[in-house]
Amino acid sequence: MPITRREFLKNSGLLGVALTAASMRAFIRPAPKFRPTLNTDSLARFVDPLPIPSIARAIGHRKTPTGAEVPFYRVEMRACESRLHRDLNPTQMWGYGSTFPGPTFETKSGEGILVEWINALPNAHVFPIDHKLHGAERNLPEVRTVVHVHGAKTPPDSDGYPESWYPSGKSALAWYPNRQDAAMLWYHDHAMGINRLNIYAGLAGLFIVRDDAEAALNLPSGKFEIPLVLCDRLLDRDHQLYYPDSGIPGAPWIPEVYGNVILANGKIFPYLDVEPRMYRVRVLNAANSRFFSLSLGSGGSFHQIGTDLGLLPAPVELKSLLLYPAERADLIFDFSGHAGERIELKHQAMEVMQFRVADEPAKETGVMPARIRPVAKLAESAAVTTRMLTLVEYDDYVGNSMVMLLNSSHWSDPVTEQPILDSVEIWNLVNLTEDAHPIHLHLVRFQILDRRPFDVFAYQQNRTIRYLGPATPPDPNEAGWKDTVRADPGLVTRIIARFEGFAGRYVWHCHLLEHEDNEMMRPYEVVTSASERVAAITAQEASWCIGGNVVRLTRSQSCNTILTRP
Ligand code: C2O
Ligand code: CU
Repeated sequence: MPITRREFLKNSGLLGVALTAASMRAFIRPAPKFRPTLNTDSLARFVDPLPIPSIARAIGHRKTPTGAEVPFYRVEMRACESRLHRDLNPTQMWGYGSTFPGPTFETKSGEGILVEWINALPNAHVFPIDHKLHGAERNLPEVRTVVHVHGAKTPPDSDGYPESWYPSGKSALAWYPNRQDAAMLWYHDHAMGINRLNIYAGLAGLFIVRDDAEAALNLPSGKFEIPLVLCDRLLDRDHQLYYPDSGIPGAPWIPEVYGNVILANGKIFPYLDVEPRMYRVRVLNAANSRFFSLSLGSGGSFHQIGTDLGLLPAPVELKSLLLYPAERADLIFDFSGHAGERIELKHQAMEVMQFRVADEPAKETGVMPARIRPVAKLAESAAVTTRMLTLVEYDDYVGNSMVMLLNSSHWSDPVTEQPILDSVEIWNLVNLTEDAHPIHLHLVRFQILDRRPFDVFAYQQNRTIRYLGPATPPDPNEAGWKDTVRADPGLVTRIIARFEGFAGRYVWHCHLLEHEDNEMMRPYEVVTSASERVAAITAQEASWCIGGNVVRLTRSQSCNTILTRP
């Protein structure tokens, strides 16, 4: 898989050096301000057991909008303390249920739940807010939250629309019907303009959907199934979370943040006692910016059996796994034959955690199914619409910031993607930037068709795609249901989705949280008919003009929107 020089530098083990990308970009801007950070070299390895997040418990039943009685949960977001390592002071964090990661939801396909998400956080934010970012203006409450269940097929009013935030002291009720296949989803904050800060503070947790087809496979379960939330954080010398500032007065936003520690379920360098048998390890990359390239210190291989939104048709053997922010991988680690060994899980050269394999035989070792679950290919011929959607970023020398856009449009521009309910579309993600961006669509699951190199310069000149080589199919471990796709630089990444489930307003965005907060997010709308689409566009254009901010929309091609500001 192509990794650019910049990405290599950004992720090349220089843990103490945060902001590599930022400093490389910021040659004309002031250097970012650094607070002294914790030196992790002397931190003892593998002294804390890997925590397993608690399971969320329903407190009763309530009626859904369809009249069904379903389990009802209440989860409070609170400031909390967390000991990230035996030898560190407690770290101030924010957590769902006062923990990071938050409690895990265990649900079953087709069996809905209701959750009241309560914002019981303090009124002041812990990190520098950039009031220049859209949706984070100074007149808004500093602490605003709204919860999104990532990967869930959720009605629009429960999906955590970024502008549907609420301040401390308020709560929101959300309905998750769970009409979808078994998969490990996750929930996290989605508040407009400060999402990166809220998640960095600790607002994230897991949401597991199970179903009968999965249960029939007899995969390792119970204590042999390990959820693993990975992320990185910068810790200062007082062992507190540190979110760096650009150093630009009034505009603290930075393009990416990289930590000096990697947290596995909220611990630095934990260990897990395992039996010499198969384990199912379900990994989430919950980092703001960092991708993980995971491998075993033993050099051994492991198998991937599932992607973001479900099981793969067959296990894929891997020596290393690339996981971008928000992606999940369902893995099988087989420790049978390794009794008594200590095996590290690594990100590149860095230690993440250690498995300590017991020195006595396990009762049973588990069997790897040869075939797992068929994944029916969405046929390209079924697509009624193909969209060309650009990913762009450039330095705004006047605004002294970076501009990052999807489809050359800002968040507040009229909606340009309006798929019709139940129709199939192909989205071509045309990456004109030097970065890989993990692109996520709410509501739907999709399949990756291929990635193909194109002439970026020619595209910028005349907006036509000139391919420079053949298309590459997705890697075998990406050939399942996805909700987040790595759009590599200089490539057109094609995905195909059926826009099913619910009509209404959703979002799609880059899941590098710094990008998402700085305009690399767009609303999209599933409409029930083409006429609704036209009506919606007209209404939007009307309100657009009423707002006094007159913008002309010129459509060059059916799907490419160019905005010309008068
Ligand atoms: Cu992980 Cu818009 O979400
Ligand atoms: Cu991005």
